Amino acid sequence: MGSELEKWVLMVTARTPTNIAVIKYWGKRDETLILPINDSISVTLDPSHLCTTTTVSVSPTFDHDRMWLNGKEISLQGGRFQSCLREIRARAQDVEDKKKGIKIKKEDWQKLHLHIASYNNFPTAAGLASSAAGLACLVFSLAKLMNLKEDNSQLSAIARQGSGSACRSLYGGFVKWDMGKEDNGSDSLAVQLADEKHWDELVIIIAVVSARQKETSSTSGMRDTVVTSALIEHRAKEVVPKRIVQMEDAIQKRDFPSFARLAYRDSNQFHAVCLDTYPPIFYMNDTSHRIISCVEKWNRAEETPQVAYTFDAGPNAVMIARDRKTAALLLQRLLYNFPPQSDTDLDSYIIGDKSILQDAGIKDMKDVEALAPPPEIKDNISTQRSKGDVSHFICTRPGGGPVVLSDGSHALLNPLTGLPK
Ligand code: ADE
Repeated sequence: MGSELEKWVLMVTARTPTNIAVIKYWGKRDETLILPINDSISVTLDPSHLCTTTTVSVSPTFDHDRMWLNGKEISLQGGRFQSCLREIRARAQDVEDKKKGIKIKKEDWQKLHLHIASYNNFPTAAGLASSAAGLACLVFSLAKLMNLKEDNSQLSAIARQGSGSACRSLYGGFVKWDMGKEDNGSDSLAVQLADEKHWDELVIIIAVVSARQKETSSTSGMRDTVVTSALIEHRAKEVVPKRIVQMEDAIQKRDFPSFARLAYRDSNQFHAVCLDTYPPIFYMNDTSHRIISCVEKWNRAEETPQVAYTFDAGPNAVMIARDRKTAALLLQRLLYNFPPQSDTDLDSYIIGDKSILQDAGIKDMKDVEALAPPPEIKDNISTQRSKGDVSHFICTRPGGGPVVLSDGSHALLNPLTGLPK
């Protein structure tokens, strides 16, 4: 390490995706190490639409570890951050930057302090798994800064200790979190089942549903489920192990009907287990239920699933369409049932990959108002078109894993001071 007079700042910037589970994680067997009671499988979402960018930096001039999230300083004292920082520092290696004339010995990392700035390109509190992308990005960028030798799977076991589902954000495409058997959690990690190119016709549409009340946190919800639900043991021991095998097979064969049936049945069982928890937990609301019935009616009318749906611990719907043509037809149905409020423009109502809107033949609000009811709606009772129940839709697709970004324009910290730009 340079002398105390040296003023250098060394930094790394990385971007990490978020992910949506299609076979759900719910319930821990170890609360501190975050070890789950069953395996889970997820699809990584395209980071151009949903991602975390994090800059981590080190300098002999920093006098304590600090972090800024979306521009605001936050405390790093929480157990989840401390676990990740401790595990990463324990594996840090020698680092040399010849251009800057910086040499850091591995033992120096215990004394050096960090500045971290993180930014989510989507609303942090909208129930879109921001902590998964956030903790994965923290671990990945620190691993690069400190020159760790571990691969992404081994890093996933560290990210898991920050936020369980974060471990699945260390890979793109289709990812399995193996629950592992060891008490120390060393084999509870993520493995990639297939990359994002393997099944690139899939289109994902997320309905960000306006939530009226604060939901139960996943941590306390899971704890209550494990203690009180009579169904959770059956789910973890009997149902999920079979579904994991079937889902791996459906992904490998790109078998959309099997993929869709497994995804929505597993989401529905997760919410059934929440209802079986005492006191009961309600994550979905009326809008979520109306979205399910819109997709179910259409799937039934087509006699084979066109769209899969899944809901995490909140009311937002994540729908996966088999291809672009189906996604355009889905978007027409969603806009018919959930039109924007009169003062919302279409451009801010449909975000992400807007080309799906063009495929659906919708250019402006007049086209939305002119949408005819989908043919599967036979009665008028269910054709209520209520405005404002969906805040917006995000059109996206399966995406790639973490990447290091060039510091120049992407860095969130000033390269001279190590403070937020
Ligand atoms: N929680 C939500 N977003 C986060 C982020 N980007 N980093 C760390 N924790 C987070």
